[in-house]
Amino acid sequence: MATTIEELEARRAAARMGGGAKRIAAQHAKGRLTARERLSVLLDADSFEEVDMYVEHNCVDFGMEEQKFPGDGVVTGSGTINGRLVYVFAQDFTVFGGSLSERHAQKICKVMDAAMKVGAPVIGLNDSGGARIQEGVASLGGYAEVFQRNVLASGVIPQLSLIMGPCAGGAVYSPAMTDFIFMVKDSSYMFVTGPEVVKTVTNEVVTQEELGGAVTHTTKSGVADVAFENDIDALLATREFFDFLPLSNRHDIPERPTDDPWDRIEDSLDTLIPPSAATPYDMHELIRKVADEGDFFELQPKHAANIIIGFCRIEGRTVGVVANQPMVLAGCLDINSSKKGARFVRFCDAFDIPILTLVDVPGFLPGVGQEHHGIIKHGAKLLFAYAEATVPKITVITRKAYGGAYDVMASKHLRGDLNYAWPTAEIAVMGAKGAVEIIFRGKTAKEIAEHTAEYEERFANPFVAASKGFIDEVIMPHSTRRRVALGLRKLRGKQLENPWKKHDNIPL
Ligand code: HXC
Repeated sequence: MATTIEELEARRAAARMGGGAKRIAAQHAKGRLTARERLSVLLDADSFEEVDMYVEHNCVDFGMEEQKFPGDGVVTGSGTINGRLVYVFAQDFTVFGGSLSERHAQKICKVMDAAMKVGAPVIGLNDSGGARIQEGVASLGGYAEVFQRNVLASGVIPQLSLIMGPCAGGAVYSPAMTDFIFMVKDSSYMFVTGPEVVKTVTNEVVTQEELGGAVTHTTKSGVADVAFENDIDALLATREFFDFLPLSNRHDIPERPTDDPWDRIEDSLDTLIPPSAATPYDMHELIRKVADEGDFFELQPKHAANIIIGFCRIEGRTVGVVANQPMVLAGCLDINSSKKGARFVRFCDAFDIPILTLVDVPGFLPGVGQEHHGIIKHGAKLLFAYAEATVPKITVITRKAYGGAYDVMASKHLRGDLNYAWPTAEIAVMGAKGAVEIIFRGKTAKEIAEHTAEYEERFANPFVAASKGFIDEVIMPHSTRRRVALGLRKLRGKQLENPWKKHDNIPL
């Protein structure tokens, strides 16, 4: 018995050493943690239960039968984050560069299958040189097995990817199909083809960081949601973020106790809207003043910042926030903001997270570039997402709600449950000056000014829309949190189903 126990201990110790002390030191020298160190930061202390610790690859080519490392380059299992169950896999760069073999893929699939069975999120820590080159097609098959599971799990369990090292080639498509991607600055990158291939094919010279680093993907491409300074920051933020998510589409949204009064009055909101319609203000201020304890986890803060998305809590329960940001492009909807908003709305709807929409939108962004790149189809994504969503939807129009963008932003016509407007709201086909210049083309400047004043008087208010029932109530800004909290409470029992269909056909 004693020797059996010793053997077990020895095997465990060998597995914990991954690719060995030298490679662990090399990982640390790059400012990166090892797979197991990362899991120890991510998960509650002593909660991690590892599975498949002794799995080895089955490759016999290129001398691989002589090189075996228990675990085969990925650490898998389950644990808890603040007491709630989560399944995890962490690629171990110290073993064959975290590259994906057939067995490595089987380990990832096993935890994904387990998570689907019980209804718990999967968090993947990616740090890999891609397909295990010695294995060839077996590795490609392994990737596709993971991809298939990503798709089947989409909308059933939340899936999060942390990119903490290389992630290149077809390997990027597993994270791409998960719900959220966090990256680490100057340490992680994602691209389909790297700088060398790019140079050969297009003659463009670009660094790894410029092509697919954390900053690139959280500003330009929008592939990733948030960039963090280092491994620890990314892992701790993931714990915080996880607390907002339901475990699966079978579970209710999480609820945490709060001392923040549901009917807290915020007098400062009465002066949030500047006197001039052309002056911007920061929509974050409203979000924070409505949220419990001012706590808001923003996603994609640096990409398409003309729309703000993220999670807050109201009365301790998760709420998805979508808000136009007047500080950026005057809060216009454009291609990127429509895509950003639409995917978030669909996530919330899939997981029964109520949506709070804060509207100050002058319309869709005009321009040849926007039209030629398909604003019609991309703008339709946000419209489609809101229209199909059956979760509680509460909308507050703070200032402008013009044109098609008024319709899109969770209007009453798209089954908004409670549509509020502040007294400063202007709900119209377009801004007064533009409208008058069209209706009264050819008139003198003086006449235009007079008609503009007349148009503003008639439409630059919420009461025309309210008189038609498009707005349920005009509310005082200071009472916004109280109204929203009360509305969400009343809507907890909401039942609404879309007609049966195999699936819809959102304009992709
Ligand atoms: C097997 C790999 C590997 C791989 C790295 N290693 N990538 N082993 N398959 N794909 C091993 C190295 O041999 C080395 O082993 C150890 O991991 C660390 O690698 P280094 O090169 O020393 O590390 P570093 O300098 O940090 O460079 C990391 C890297 C580089 C940029 C990721 O290793 C690299 O370019 N690897 C190949 C990437 C690649 O072409 N992958 C296939 C892409 S195609 P030792 O024993 O020395 O520690 C693909 C298709 C997926 O992925 C398709 C899905 C549908």
